[in-house]
Amino acid sequence: MTATAPELRVEGLEAGYYAGQSVLRGVDLRAAPGKLTVILGPNGAGKSTALRVLAGLLPPAAGRVLVDGHDITRVPAHGRARLGIAFLPQGRSVFAALTVHQNLELGGWILRRRRQDLDRALEAAYERYPKLRPLRDRPAGSLSGGQQRLVEIARMMIADPRLILIDEPSAGLAPNLTEEVYEELARLRVEGRTVLLVDQNVRAAVEVADYVFTLESGRNHLEGDRERFERELGALIRAWLRV
Ligand SMILES: Nc1ncnc2c1ncn2[C@@H]1O[C@H](COP(=O)(O)OP(=O)(O)OP(=O)(O)O)[C@@H](O)[C@H]1O
Ligand SMILES: [Mg+2]
Repeated sequence: MTATAPELRVEGLEAGYYAGQSVLRGVDLRAAPGKLTVILGPNGAGKSTALRVLAGLLPPAAGRVLVDGHDITRVPAHGRARLGIAFLPQGRSVFAALTVHQNLELGGWILRRRRQDLDRALEAAYERYPKLRPLRDRPAGSLSGGQQRLVEIARMMIADPRLILIDEPSAGLAPNLTEEVYEELARLRVEGRTVLLVDQNVRAAVEVADYVFTLESGRNHLEGDRERFERELGALIRAWLRV
């Protein structure tokens, strides 16, 4: 992938886990180049399912995924990683028994046959996330929740991705760590990467968003720029919480 930020487009996406049971029912999305786009929606709306399809982990029943106009719908997950697409799934995803360093190495598996490039990428990760350096030889499972999230983010960044798919990065973190996560998301955008963020932390996500989509029951609901969502935030949250 080129050094410039790519555009991601999704058209008419249908996907699910069981034959004949669609979770996504014709979803259209766009993540603009170098912008931070957020997908919001109530539990079970299909947000994580959409990201899994975009990461190449779940084949869609219908629809297309386009990066800079190129159809990557049939490209498998490892091929998407080579195209500069990185995915941070929802929930804990460190390999608990492996050290921090081994976790980061796994993030760089597409570089595994280029040992020097991998070593450079690992060193760059410790420079970018200096808090990880002293933790290098610790089993990832022995770290705090916030430290584990940092390992996950560093692992996601190892191959210097240009298109970042990230699912609930602040879930379960204390407020000060949550703030660090949003600072990192803002940095990714400043660096000219395209970011597609799924988040339950609606207020914080809208604050960093350039553009917002909402999904409900596997369909597009609303979309618009940050200003629009800042105005309608209270009503949206109340509707989703059914209060
Ligand atoms: N691995 C799976 N196997 C079967 N069904 C699944 C699986 N993952 C999700 N689902 C179902 O797909 C629907 C959408 O789930 P998804 O996880 O995409 O929602 P979400 O919007 O990410 O919700 P949340 O905000 O709770 O993370 C739900 O009905 C869920 O039960
Ligand atoms: Mg989810």
